[in-house]
Amino acid sequence: MCYPGGRSATHDGCVLTHPRGSVGSPRRRRGRPAPPEEHPLSTSDSYAGRTALVTGGSRGIGLAIARSLVDRGARVVLTARKPEALAEAVEALGGPEVAVAVAGNAGDPEHRAEAVRTAIDTFGSLDCLVGNVGINPYYGPLIEAPLDAFRKILDTNVVGTLGLVQEAHRAWMGQHGGSVLIVASVAGLKSSAGIAAYGVSKAALVNLTTQLAVELGPQRIRVNAVAPAVVKTRFAEALFTGREDEVSGQYPVGRLGVPEDIGEAAAYLLSDGAGWVTGQTLVLDGGALSQGPI
Ligand SMILES: NC(=O)c1ccc[n+]([C@@H]2O[C@H](COP(=O)([O-])OP(=O)(O)OC[C@H]3O[C@@H](n4cnc5c(N)ncnc54)[C@H](OP(=O)(O)O)[C@@H]3O)[C@@H](O)[C@H]2O)c1
Repeated sequence: MCYPGGRSATHDGCVLTHPRGSVGSPRRRRGRPAPPEEHPLSTSDSYAGRTALVTGGSRGIGLAIARSLVDRGARVVLTARKPEALAEAVEALGGPEVAVAVAGNAGDPEHRAEAVRTAIDTFGSLDCLVGNVGINPYYGPLIEAPLDAFRKILDTNVVGTLGLVQEAHRAWMGQHGGSVLIVASVAGLKSSAGIAAYGVSKAALVNLTTQLAVELGPQRIRVNAVAPAVVKTRFAEALFTGREDEVSGQYPVGRLGVPEDIGEAAAYLLSDGAGWVTGQTLVLDGGALSQGPI
């Protein structure tokens, strides 16, 4: 386990460094203005009393993010299209005391509004928003992409995500602040043969994150993204099924991602501990981009 604050080498090999003079809690010097507002939570990873809305939360990365937040005390609203899978996810997370579900399509504005309303009506707030739904209905060269398919990808992945943030902003965060996490992809950071149309949509999400972070920072809303490489979910099955050893060999850490890898990162980025992190896209790729092409 790694402990922040100070330089330390722990038994599991984790080494952390800090800039000079940043050890311990900062003392306020005489004459220095107080921070604009103290944050209500004292610990960086406690989600007690907080509500998160996680789209695409019935399985895979979305469910792992939801579990990671519930484990830290949050209550969650999950969305997806299939009600049966959502019901199973709610049970797996601990039942209706901690999780509720809203079935619908992420591309539907009424569904997005209902999901946001449900969070506020059921649990009393909407502190964290996770735009996790992403689709990829076209595999092939961008130059041959049917424009209807391209439009659909952009509509669900980009327009749907912006619509979701707008809805959460209107209904809660614009007044109360909050934290937003967008699930992008390494496909949005470089060329990716076969999934280029999807990559374009994920690149747009990376910039959407930057733009929204700057616009919304003064309203105490942070906006960050994660950009995973191949994570073992149904969505990515075609990329590793039957050749997992070969694909894993391309990752310096020697394995593919698992949904929990993304859940852990999400819990940090959405937490108060990341209070000075906004507009960032955190690459979660087992070192693959550092090494070269995946
Ligand atoms: N897995 C990877 O390697 C990888 C890498 C980088 C980025 N990502 C991104 O991670 C996100 C989650 O992917 P995943 O791998 O966790 O996929 P997954 O295991 O297939 O889960 C997708 C989730 O989204 C829901 N969903 C799909 N389309 C939807 C729609 N139009 N409206 C509402 N809900 C919808 C699914 O439920 P229903 O089917 O019931 O709707 C399910 O809950 C996506 O944005 C993806 O682009 C994945």
